[in-house]
Amino acid sequence: MGRGRYVAGIDVGSTKVCTVIADVSEGVGPRLLGYGWVPSLGIQRGAVVDLEEVGRSLADAIDQAERSSGQKIDSAFFSIADEHVSSFNRRGLVTVGAKPRAITQSHVTRAVESTTFALDLEPGQEVIHFVPRSFCVDHRYHVQNPVGMQGNRLEVETHVISGATTSIVNMMQAVHRHGLDIDEFVVSPLAAAEAVVTPEERHAGVMLIDIGGGTTDIAVFTDGGISFTGVVAMGGNQVTSDLAIGLRVPLSTAEQVKLQTGRCTDTGMHGDETVVLPSFDGGVPENVPLVFVTEICQARVEEILEAVMDRVAASGFAAPLPGGAVLTGGGALLPGIVELARRTLDLPIRLGVPTGIAGSQEVLKNPAMAVGAGLVLWGMHNGHPEQRGRVGTGLHGAKRRLGTWFRQMAL
Ligand SMILES: Nc1ncnc2c1ncn2[C@@H]1O[C@H](COP(=O)(O)OP(=O)(O)OP(=O)(O)O)[C@@H](O)[C@H]1O
Ligand SMILES: [Mg+2]
Repeated sequence: MGRGRYVAGIDVGSTKVCTVIADVSEGVGPRLLGYGWVPSLGIQRGAVVDLEEVGRSLADAIDQAERSSGQKIDSAFFSIADEHVSSFNRRGLVTVGAKPRAITQSHVTRAVESTTFALDLEPGQEVIHFVPRSFCVDHRYHVQNPVGMQGNRLEVETHVISGATTSIVNMMQAVHRHGLDIDEFVVSPLAAAEAVVTPEERHAGVMLIDIGGGTTDIAVFTDGGISFTGVVAMGGNQVTSDLAIGLRVPLSTAEQVKLQTGRCTDTGMHGDETVVLPSFDGGVPENVPLVFVTEICQARVEEILEAVMDRVAASGFAAPLPGGAVLTGGGALLPGIVELARRTLDLPIRLGVPTGIAGSQEVLKNPAMAVGAGLVLWGMHNGHPEQRGRVGTGLHGAKRRLGTWFRQMAL
């Protein structure tokens, strides 16, 4: 299969590295060709802490995916999300003319570029994405594509997502060691949203919450565009470590207990049910009340959801969100989480499973697959063959990638 007929997405998570390869040939795709899913080593809370280990996990996940798909890959879209990811919105403006004139692509480009000047980033931060979210022609707001419209002035609001330069460079090094090219780094919640959030929800106002192992990633959409992106440095692994401390068992036993009996609500429980803790030191297996396990899970998940709400509230985009919240990530598999989130966030809640890719649905219909599947969809919608494998970091790289949105608008 020639270059450009497939898209590969690699979700480098804190607990797993997941490679998805899909056929995106015209008239066919996207169709899952194959995937790789291996435990991730050398990543903590979304950031590289050991290049060698990340390299090994990447090699294994890519190898699995190439074998199962029969497709060798030379480049891929990669997820990125650690606690240093942050976002803000910026306004830009160009004067079209003293008298109303037709707005051209060049006006749009200049308006968007004006939002990239003199960015006041924290030291050590660099831009990952510029996303033009909406335009205003004279006083007409929420214009999606102003090209061809008559007006005197064109304003644009751009969502800027930044991350720590060191995080990005370390991830680049890990990937390049493997010899792969990077089509683009995509922040995880934007990628996940491609696979689980509908256009109707984006217009209504919706929050995506991807509860991973080490981080919980947030994306808020209002009026059809991205308004807030953020990362909370807590995820399902903290639920596991709370269980390990509370039950006085090793982390591996706590993870087993969580996967087999963990839950976030006591709805439907009898109160006298117990959990048998596997014996890890040759001693007698111990029984603990299920209600105790539930309380531990519930307390931490509540804390994560409250931290998410605090971050979104601080951004000013907490209300109104009639589209509610969509939960994804492996952490969203904890039974009772939808009920708990409904109570904690006071929003309509649904579980987000990836859609939009044909092929083995047993593999794809998993909230933990949202980022992997979303990267492929992102690549299909936003990637461009001439840009593939040519990622650059910093303002220059992000500005170059702006071209993708302009091309999309021109379609
Ligand atoms: N069936 C399940 N029930 C409860 N929790 C689960 C289940 N399956 C996976 N998890 C939890 O989900 C978490 C991993 O989720 P996910 O695969 O989305 O994380 P990741 O992408 O590797 O990490 P991150 O996004 O934080 O970098 C782990 O804490 C794991 O224990
Ligand atoms: Mg993840």
